[in-house]
Amino acid sequence: MHFTINKNYTKLQGSYLFAAIGKKIARFQEENPDVEIIRLGIGDVTQPIAPAILTAMHKAVDEMGHAETFRGYAPEQGYEFLRDVIAEKDFRERGCDISADEIFISDGAKCDSGNLQEILGPGNTIAVCDPVYPVYVDANVMAGRTGSFDMATGKFGGVVYMPCLEGNGFLPELPAERADIIYLCFPNNPTGEAITKAELQKWVDHANQNGSLIIFDAAYEAYIREEGIPHSIYECEGARTCAIEMRSFSKKAGFTGVRLGFSVIPKELRADGESLNALWLRRQGTKYNGTPYIVQRAGEAVYSEEGSVQVAAQIDRYMENAALIRNGLIDAGYQAFGGVNSPYIWMKTPHGMPSWEFFDFLLTHAGVVGTPGAGFGPSGEGYFRLTAFGTYENSIKALEKIRKI
Ligand SMILES: Cc1ncc(COP(=O)(O)O)c(C=O)c1O
Repeated sequence: MHFTINKNYTKLQGSYLFAAIGKKIARFQEENPDVEIIRLGIGDVTQPIAPAILTAMHKAVDEMGHAETFRGYAPEQGYEFLRDVIAEKDFRERGCDISADEIFISDGAKCDSGNLQEILGPGNTIAVCDPVYPVYVDANVMAGRTGSFDMATGKFGGVVYMPCLEGNGFLPELPAERADIIYLCFPNNPTGEAITKAELQKWVDHANQNGSLIIFDAAYEAYIREEGIPHSIYECEGARTCAIEMRSFSKKAGFTGVRLGFSVIPKELRADGESLNALWLRRQGTKYNGTPYIVQRAGEAVYSEEGSVQVAAQIDRYMENAALIRNGLIDAGYQAFGGVNSPYIWMKTPHGMPSWEFFDFLLTHAGVVGTPGAGFGPSGEGYFRLTAFGTYENSIKALEKIRKI
């Protein structure tokens, strides 16, 4: 007799994508210590926390040092001061009918996107875009909702993969095969493309007609520039009965190291006679002890008059990089997509070069690091992701080096 492991973990593939990339960079730098490496690979921000947010954090830190203002465990659903401002600014001001008790504050969208599946039945089938942010798939593999990985196809059994390619404008088509849970992320990581409200409405209608749940990841909502692109799935009619939305402060306000996000679960969302809002509250109550007070005060400051102006200016700067990279690549003869409503540029590798080969090629010849498309799923093969999260100077430098290859 011996204890056993969760065997589903053995179905997972290799190490996490960015760990594999990190190892390659480290080896290259060791062998070429004089080469300057410009990292446009991992989606991490470079601008520091905005001053108004920092002031709010300092104030909250001081409150923790006095008995009268000290706070212990935070409420599992999040402080009302933060949930209220989110409900108002992110939703009601955009015409979305969302109330504060439908918002669950968390330590980020990665955790939520991994954890939300826990309140759903083990037998549910899932559909994902291909390429995809890997967490949605891996979390479901861990939960046993998939078959094993097929090396030949690069897919897990039992998962509906919805190819997003140049031919369909990098937008998934409604799956011919019905799925119980549909993961959508717009603006998209990794393709950088956005979805129009009319297109998203088709998904909401499809989910309501087929008894499916949409888990909508709006982590890059703050980067939307164009009219007609929904900031929230709740801008679509009927989304309250079929959709959960996840948001993140990571790319909106530089909180990748501060950690703050939230999920929205409308009261109307029900299955098997149960409210998903109630189930998630129960889950958080048992497994989560709340996002730190200091961090929630920082989040509140993102919505303040000063904070929102400062954060918008930071995003503008990243979007300048996005335009620079996208247009620079196109000028240099590459095909490049995204980067208009998102900080990601999705480029086609030259002459159909496999994406990991292009990763090595770009690192060796230009010292530029990106992310191989194949790391996001089989339909990512032949593509490469660059991010706009570097500095302006580094984005210019990277382009110059790419042009010279
Ligand atoms: C699509 C998507 N969702 C979620 C996350 C993670 O967000 P957070 O930092 O809030 O955990 C990322 C981060 O790269 C992402 O690209």
